[in-house]
Amino acid sequence: MNEKSNRTEPLTQSIEEAAKNPKNLGEMESADAVGTVGRSDCGDMLRMWVKFKEENGRRVIDRATFQTFGCQTAIAVASVATEMIRGKTSEEALALKGDQLSSPLGALPPMKIHCAQLVEDALKSALNPSAARPQNGSLKSGPTLADQITPEGKVKITLLPKKDTV
Ligand code: FES
Repeated sequence: MNEKSNRTEPLTQSIEEAAKNPKNLGEMESADAVGTVGRSDCGDMLRMWVKFKEENGRRVIDRATFQTFGCQTAIAVASVATEMIRGKTSEEALALKGDQLSSPLGALPPMKIHCAQLVEDALKSALNPSAARPQNGSLKSGPTLADQITPEGKVKITLLPKKDTV
């Protein structure tokens, strides 16, 4: 595969499998923290909800969920990342970089590294908004990503077909 074909390089099998059956997909009504980020370069958006619990005197992440208008890689990374951060404190989760959050999927194709950063940024936005990378600035808060894009809520969130890899 030459360099010009990077935009269409095949996803790894692990990404395809994780994106096909994503874990922790959907909004969380009783979340303690919510973070939303978007990338102006690819137009993808991701929102993450986090719920904490007390465990052995520590406040740890009980569960996390996500919604995204994003590519399959973003879906796959968000799926494994929301599993990975369970049981971690906020500080422990914030210390995880995109490559660590995506590590269960193996090495990401070079053109997909930013997809893991989208997940990292959503986590940061939820857990420590002041430390999150500056984003596009056009995002307004809303209970769901669909609400954010169309206040009338007329957009249905649908996973992209398998062949859409960009
Ligand atoms: Fe934009 Fe994956 S997050 S292409």
